[in-house]
Amino acid sequence: MKIALGSDHAGYNLKEEIAEQLKSRGCLIKDCGVFSRESSDYPDTAETVSGAVQDGEVNFGILICGTGIGMSIAANKRKGIRAALCAESYSARCARQHNNANILALGSRVTGVGLALEIIDVFLATSFEGGRHQGRVDKVTALENTR
Ligand code: RB5
Repeated sequence: MKIALGSDHAGYNLKEEIAEQLKSRGCLIKDCGVFSRESSDYPDTAETVSGAVQDGEVNFGILICGTGIGMSIAANKRKGIRAALCAESYSARCARQHNNANILALGSRVTGVGLALEIIDVFLATSFEGGRHQGRVDKVTALENTR
């Protein structure tokens, strides 16, 4: 599985931990930065990660900022991106089963590393259920072309 991983300065430490853990589990990581704790703007990394997801270069994206809010807002501006901000694993499971989320957003100032890794495990291991959820996701996609 290939994952695009990115953060701003606030998410840098958590990104590094996640990269190490995912690599040790055999995931291929496209590290989209940032590469230090120097101040940065979350939309820049959100653009790179969501682009990699949009292009099909990776299976999923993971974005981390202080709260995860800025990253999820920015990533969801791109067509075809369904970024879900999760702070517990139930939401991560539903984000995949119901919403077919393709990016997981995490808040490094909200969620500790242990819980973040559990959320990631659930997110990556869960499939979209389709069925009644497919039509709803299609309606979300249709909203991309309104106004
Ligand atoms: C940076 O201070 C912070 O605003 C950013 O990481 C994020 O939480 C924005 O949503």
